[in-house]
Amino acid sequence: MSLKVVVTGKIPTAGLETLLAAGLAPIAWDKDQPMTRAELLVAVKGAEILITLLTEKVDAELLDAAGSQLRAVCNVAVGYNNIDVAACSTRNVRVTNTPGVLTDATADIAFGLILMVTRRLGEGERVIRSNDPWQWGMHYMLGSGIQNRQLGVIGMGAIGIATARRAKVFGMKVAYYSRSKIDDKIATELGAKQMSFEELLATSDVVSVHCPSNDSTHHLIGAEQFRLMKKSAFLINTARGPIVNEQELVDALKAGEIAGAGLDVFEFEPKVNSGLLNLENVVLIPHLGSATAETRAAMATLAANNAVAIASSQAPLTPVN
Ligand code: GLV
Repeated sequence: MSLKVVVTGKIPTAGLETLLAAGLAPIAWDKDQPMTRAELLVAVKGAEILITLLTEKVDAELLDAAGSQLRAVCNVAVGYNNIDVAACSTRNVRVTNTPGVLTDATADIAFGLILMVTRRLGEGERVIRSNDPWQWGMHYMLGSGIQNRQLGVIGMGAIGIATARRAKVFGMKVAYYSRSKIDDKIATELGAKQMSFEELLATSDVVSVHCPSNDSTHHLIGAEQFRLMKKSAFLINTARGPIVNEQELVDALKAGEIAGAGLDVFEFEPKVNSGLLNLENVVLIPHLGSATAETRAAMATLAANNAVAIASSQAPLTPVN
């Protein structure tokens, strides 16, 4: 196959090998730093298939820079808010993502953040690293237990369900707010109660965000929602930053409207609102949801297999449009 395949970011070799084994010779960016926008607009020129990372904005400008021969954009991520899918569809460009292969890795991080923020683990670690004296005490650095507390999942897709499974094992109750009802078997297994958005916010002890980021979920959680939440509740976000109004989160945390937050993603990533940095009751990690070697290799391989399918005029495995 002599299609021009451009891989716009550095991906694990498993992905490149999948392309090579299928006879596709990718032109692949091999630096850890993402391309600048100017470099990207030049690199995509003439491509028939693009393999992209979530750091690349695939919009009308980029599609035009690529040219009308472009057939597909295969994103190496389950989230595709970096891609203007409508602009792709208008130009008959297929879009694919990588669902499934990062479910457990991301749910692990969501649950890790729940434990970190409720048990004040980041704060505790900062004490040790500061070299300041400390002393075990009955009342020292008490956190909040999660047993018999309610996890409220916003967006009960694969990652939401996997996070709920972990919560159940830890003795939490599960509620969810989602566009659709989940499979009865899974609901029974988890004892999961479907709630309205408002009821979920008002009754949950931990609210964990797992919905996609798009126009309808932009700032889904802001000042009004924080006011509905319990003062003792925690917010976890491993989905996408723009779903939460970050400044209003800072305001709510400072006003004591909620108890804390665990964030893997940020509204203006990689920038982080400076108001978050001095708060002890937040845990901040740099978008690590899918960051295991195994998961990243599986994501790259799935994206490459989507590209191979499209190159051979077959249906992609995980299409978006
Ligand atoms: C990671 O954030 C992904 O969407 O795959």
